[in-house]
Amino acid sequence: MEKLIAPSVLAADFGNLQRDVEMVNESKADWFHIDIMDGVFVPNISFGMPVLKAITGHAKKTIDVHLMIVDPDRYIQTFADLGADILTVHYEACTHLHRTIQAIKNAGMKAGVALNPHTPIAVLEDIISDLDLVCIMSVNPGFGGQSFIENTYKKTAQLKNLISFSNATTLIEIDGGVTDKNANKLIEAGADVLVAGSYVFKSDNPTNTIENLKNTIN
Ligand code: DX5
Ligand code: ZN
Repeated sequence: MEKLIAPSVLAADFGNLQRDVEMVNESKADWFHIDIMDGVFVPNISFGMPVLKAITGHAKKTIDVHLMIVDPDRYIQTFADLGADILTVHYEACTHLHRTIQAIKNAGMKAGVALNPHTPIAVLEDIISDLDLVCIMSVNPGFGGQSFIENTYKKTAQLKNLISFSNATTLIEIDGGVTDKNANKLIEAGADVLVAGSYVFKSDNPTNTIENLKNTIN
């Protein structure tokens, strides 16, 4: 399968959001990765519904929403209405994860689960077949621009094994600190989707950076 790039809008220039969204539209990127933080689950607040609405008003690619919020069930329908195609919740934020996943699917979206760096892959053994995507956090969630945690390669390989063993079709997404230095090794370990924030938006030519990253991994 073709490997995908999902630029993280958290690293975009919010004063020129439409310009940056259109840059992604015209680029070789595959998805928009949208980070929603509530200041409770993570020690930072990113942006909420009005900004997401502004993004989806211009975005022409898959909208991949990563919820870093407590009690995400409260907002599943809201994110569906706002145009999310994939909705990812944190394992650590969901007491009744199976119910949450079914609710996301019933709202017409693909369902993902994100794992913090300390959370082992094994906790997904009994739900992997229900998941469209697993997002392995390769930094502690809450901020862009942090450095990549090396243990991610091992977790990616473990997740790949679990998916194969279960005959599941779950995509593996890696989020945090992704650059051209770790991209290939992540793909070799089994990753399907690479999120990249700072590496793309803080580069001199984001369009070229996306294209180069896409060519590197395909
Ligand atoms: C971190 C977010 C990431 C972040 C990635 O909490 O989930 O999506 O935006 O940014 P970089 O690529 O700069 O680490
Ligand atoms: Zn994210």
